[in-house]
Amino acid sequence: MEIARIGVVGLGTMGAGIAQLCVEAGVETVGREVSLDRAEQAKGRIGHFLARKVEKGQLEQGGDEAALALLSLTDDVADLAACDLVIEAAFEEMAVKQQLYRELEAAVGPDAILATNTSALSVTEIASVTERPERVVGMHFFNPAPLMPLVEVVRAERTDEQVFEAAFAFAERLGKQPIRCNDTPGFVVNRILIPLLNDCVRVLDEAGVTVEDLDKAMKHGAGWPMGPAALLDLVGADVHVHASEALYEKLREPRMAPPPRLVRMHQAGKLGRKSGEGFHRYDG
Ligand code: 3HC
Repeated sequence: MEIARIGVVGLGTMGAGIAQLCVEAGVETVGREVSLDRAEQAKGRIGHFLARKVEKGQLEQGGDEAALALLSLTDDVADLAACDLVIEAAFEEMAVKQQLYRELEAAVGPDAILATNTSALSVTEIASVTERPERVVGMHFFNPAPLMPLVEVVRAERTDEQVFEAAFAFAERLGKQPIRCNDTPGFVVNRILIPLLNDCVRVLDEAGVTVEDLDKAMKHGAGWPMGPAALLDLVGADVHVHASEALYEKLREPRMAPPPRLVRMHQAGKLGRKSGEGFHRYDG
């Protein structure tokens, strides 16, 4: 199954990171956003990170421009027609995803693979609205996608084995460390990490610890690369609360439910890095 051209649908944090990985791997990539303005903004962010890699000697001189030249932008799903694999990183709402999959399936060829980057929704349910659910698979990347090595390759109920293995092989081609797993709520990492992060937020109030000390505790006492509050600020309160609610709905475990403090932050727009304030403050 040759994968020569990729489509990435949704160029938010995750989609832009995935598109960056694809062009860095030398693959022609079509990025689709709801408007060309948003697509251009994402391309600007990708250009910034690639330029930083050149400055730091992680990419050869001119490597950033060569990679960016492989990225074309569109606001029209029909422009994904020639893609062998489309990775979807759109808004985490089942109805939105399902509508998109109907459009995607109509746009691409019969042999194309449709991969969803969903973190907390059922891949089987997303695929259920398509005529060819065997062509649908999960490819769950982690934030920040260009830096985090893991990709969970998710086998949905009807995923064809060759499609599954092609998605796995493509993740390896991107330089990732993929794993194979079934389509269960939260797959592997979020099934564990989401309740753990929720516990961290509950401990904040219970133990009367400061945010700074909570981060210090988990970095220096548990060897985390960054503290839980800093990680939640990176992921975004909106993304985390949404994923947490989706998992709670399916598993009904109290620890899966988002803690009230996080829900309040979400409602107040204290989303973390993206809004300039979360548990910590961010300049610029
Ligand atoms: N492309 C390339 N480089 C990027 C980048 C991108 N998209 N985004 C950030 N960078 C660069 C920055 O430019 C920065 O370099 P610069 O300052 O020289 O410009 C560098 O990466 C990051 O610098 P740091 O000093 O912060 O790097 P660290 O060595 O501390 O590593 C980290 C950062 C990899 C994020 C590390 O702290 C880490 O592993 N944190 C844990 C992250 C994690 O757990 N993620 C999973 C979240 S859960 C999830 O994603 C699930 C989802 O479903 C919600």
